[in-house]
Amino acid sequence: MIRTRFTEMFGVAHPIVQGGMQWVGRAELTAAVANAGALGFLTALTQPTPADLAKEIARCREMTDKPFGVNLTILPTLVPRPYDEYIDVIISSGIKVIETAGNNPKPHLPKFKAAGVRVIHKCTSVRHGLSAEKAGVDCISMDGFECAGHPGEDDVPNLVLLPAAANVIKIPMIASGGFADARGLVAALALGCEGMNMGTRFMATREAPIHPKVKEAIVAGDERSTALILRSLRNTSRVFGNSVARRTIEMEREGKGIAEIGPFVAGAKGRVVYETGDLEHGIWSAGTSMGLIGDIPTCRELVERIMREAEALIRGRLRGMAA
Ligand SMILES: Cc1cc2nc3c(=O)[nH]c(=O)nc-3n(C[C@H](O)[C@H](O)[C@H](O)COP(=O)(O)O)c2cc1C
Repeated sequence: MIRTRFTEMFGVAHPIVQGGMQWVGRAELTAAVANAGALGFLTALTQPTPADLAKEIARCREMTDKPFGVNLTILPTLVPRPYDEYIDVIISSGIKVIETAGNNPKPHLPKFKAAGVRVIHKCTSVRHGLSAEKAGVDCISMDGFECAGHPGEDDVPNLVLLPAAANVIKIPMIASGGFADARGLVAALALGCEGMNMGTRFMATREAPIHPKVKEAIVAGDERSTALILRSLRNTSRVFGNSVARRTIEMEREGKGIAEIGPFVAGAKGRVVYETGDLEHGIWSAGTSMGLIGDIPTCRELVERIMREAEALIRGRLRGMAA
């Protein structure tokens, strides 16, 4: 057992989080993560309406009696989403932990506090972490440059970002981006965090509700298999480096704007990739941690392996070195 301020605060057995993932963070995965003793998050906006989110939460409850949370990503979208209605559903469904991302959650905190919902805010810089702490969130998930999805615009990898954040942030912090195994977890603890968050690693699990070809592509990929797109729009996104990502970067170099690039990178096309396994159909998120992923275990096998190896690493190799 590894006990940290994170496991104590959220009442989970292991200091491991499965962060929100658009189209991937559904009940099958989140329940499997919860049943493995880690903290999983359903992704609110994967559900087309707040009513669908209520149904998905109920479906997840049928598969686990362990705690799980909901991710709410507040980013500019082509079609505006009714965030307040999603929040009302999260609260009225009795969810007790939410992962916010994309924007400062401050305006929504009074509602969460009043309902006894703890907030983990995911961000990509020390300054944003500090401002979320000041606003009153309970925990920070710090996403470094290695991560899948939105790494921000500062390009600071976790070896510097995490200890720099730990120097000033007092509330518990979770390390995110580039983590996939026991060595990452032990490093996260050494760098000042109370646990680690993984996205890409959890995609390559048996329970992840995506096409097997996507999981196989993650296993076959390595740390150089990602691409950074939409930098020119200051909305950088780390995705699997397929032909659509390369074409997007070309269009950016040609000076094209959102009107031309938008249809190329539409989330709906990425959804088709996960459903059909057609890896070139659109843009889909994956991180540099692909370089560390070599199999497709169940969530339980993955979490148990990480915990077993992390404890062995602390008790064996590291302890031996300190003697
Ligand atoms: C397929 C995919 C979709 C994602 N969608 C979201 C999202 O909707 N909201 C969010 O906050 N983070 C999202 N993320 C980021 C993850 O929650 C997590 O922060 C990130 O994957 C960590 O980096 P890693 O992939 O190296 O573990 C997504 C990641 C992946 C791989």
